[in-house]
Amino acid sequence: MIEGLERILLTEEQIDERIREVAAAVTERYRGRTLKLIGVLKGSVFFLTALARHIQVPVKIDFLGISSFGNRNGAPGLVRIARDLDDTIESEDVLLVEDIVDTGLTTRYLLQTLAGRGPHSLGIVTLLDRTCRRIVEVPVEFRCFEIDDRFVVGFGLDHKQLYRNLPYLAVLKPPV
Ligand code: IMP
Repeated sequence: MIEGLERILLTEEQIDERIREVAAAVTERYRGRTLKLIGVLKGSVFFLTALARHIQVPVKIDFLGISSFGNRNGAPGLVRIARDLDDTIESEDVLLVEDIVDTGLTTRYLLQTLAGRGPHSLGIVTLLDRTCRRIVEVPVEFRCFEIDDRFVVGFGLDHKQLYRNLPYLAVLKPPV
């Protein structure tokens, strides 16, 4: 086990199998249309590329970069767009690709921002969903895995920018 990690939560095989299932569901939903996947840098990049490879309708991709400002207690706070999309999404079928929806604050902000740009449709697909920590409701159409309240890393998710490249998802050791 890599230093700092407690245990593997989801193996590479489990993730791959589930992503194929979700990609099939996405394909069904958008059959006959062109889909734009919007990834949120940097966490969702690994998931977006894995998912996109198994989607069977024409796909475009674009990325958003965000900065979060926690409040003084370390609680989730404001989010702003630090790097905007390259292209317009007007009249397009858009799927926002998230690594994890936790409190939902980030996703809700992004949804509101994107909705204001006139897409034909706007949905959410997330690798991980932690509904036990939800503060605001967000409509998650497609989720790969529901997880408990433990900090996880790997498959794009980081702790202090590390671990993103792990091909599996692991639980981080609690700080001593
Ligand atoms: P939310 O606004 O609370 O839903 O936070 C979503 C963001 O918090 C995600 O996009 C991640 O960047 C980060 N995050 C939340 N939980 C975890 C975790 O367990 N591991 C790594 N990053 C996390």
